[in-house]
Amino acid sequence: MKTASICAGVIGYSYALKFAMGGNEVWAQNRTEKSSELAKERVRESLNSLVTNGVYTEEQEKEILARIHFTTSVKEAVKDAGFIQESSTEHYDVKHEIVKQIEEYAPEDTVIASSTSGLLVTEIAKYARHPERFVGGHPYNPPHLIPLVEITKGEKTEDWAVEKAKEFYKGIGMEPVVLQKEALGFICNRLQMALYREVVNLVLSGVCTVEDADKAVTFGPGIRWGIMGPSLVFELGGGQHGVAGLMTHLHDSISLWLNDMADWKEFPPETAKILQEGVRAELADRPAEIGNTHESLEQYRDKMLIEMLKLHKKL
Ligand SMILES: NC(=O)c1ccc[n+]([C@@H]2O[C@H](COP(=O)([O-])OP(=O)(O)OC[C@H]3O[C@@H](n4cnc5c(N)ncnc54)[C@H](O)[C@@H]3O)[C@@H](O)[C@H]2O)c1
Repeated sequence: MKTASICAGVIGYSYALKFAMGGNEVWAQNRTEKSSELAKERVRESLNSLVTNGVYTEEQEKEILARIHFTTSVKEAVKDAGFIQESSTEHYDVKHEIVKQIEEYAPEDTVIASSTSGLLVTEIAKYARHPERFVGGHPYNPPHLIPLVEITKGEKTEDWAVEKAKEFYKGIGMEPVVLQKEALGFICNRLQMALYREVVNLVLSGVCTVEDADKAVTFGPGIRWGIMGPSLVFELGGGQHGVAGLMTHLHDSISLWLNDMADWKEFPPETAKILQEGVRAELADRPAEIGNTHESLEQYRDKMLIEMLKLHKKL
């Protein structure tokens, strides 16, 4: 199928790559030749890393690359496209302008997904001719490696558009989840921040270091969460009584913990400085092979991510 990734910046280039990895022809659009070159470079580097890590052969790499077309024309990108993703800068006025350009040339019934991290689909599609086909398709960076995509609806989004988006993302090996109503931060950012608030609380109150909080997550619940979600983990923890049994059994203890945990609405002012010092100490303690600089940490993350995705049969 012909697809389009409009505004191929950090997210848009990676979505374009993912669409092509899923067997689609994709037109990656940028405003200038210069940013088009950068997108091309990013695609090449990411594909190279997938070859180095044994996901693709050089032959497959060439085939995927051949399915990605770079253009500076929105018209060329969206004409006859069967799915369109827009990843422009996070401002309503920019998104309104992009929506207008896309709708001028796109087929009327093609789903248009926005990568927005927090803007409302209703507002993004406010001046659209066909707001019923707009959805949010919020990825996790980089979308060519992280399977999750959070689908959100606007007030005028119709169910067929959500279904089509779901089908499309599933078809390229992503894992869509649908928000039944709009929620700030969607699902994942709320979950991440709920945990991180408590990490900061534990560090600020002297219970543990940043390094030990990271270790506790990585080698404790995190390693299980990489396999299944917290409710399934607790289902097993509850033995034959399942998650309901676990919640009942631990009810009194859990209430004590919850009462003792942070419920701030803002991080205390000293947070950033203390976290940065903690991370510096943590990095200094790490052996180079598991990453102890930004660059090596990123390489280690991607290598491990690829191994985990192989286990999940997502690559
Ligand atoms: N970076 C992330 O981690 C991340 C994660 C999830 C979602 N998102 C969302 O993805 C979208 C893109 O973010 P990004 O990080 O790729 O940003 P980016 O700056 O890398 O890319 C933005 C793209 O928009 C284009 N652009 C900027 N101003 C424009 C204008 N006035 N008219 C037309 N095009 C314009 C740029 O040329 C670029 O191609 C945002 O909505 C962001 O919230 C980002």
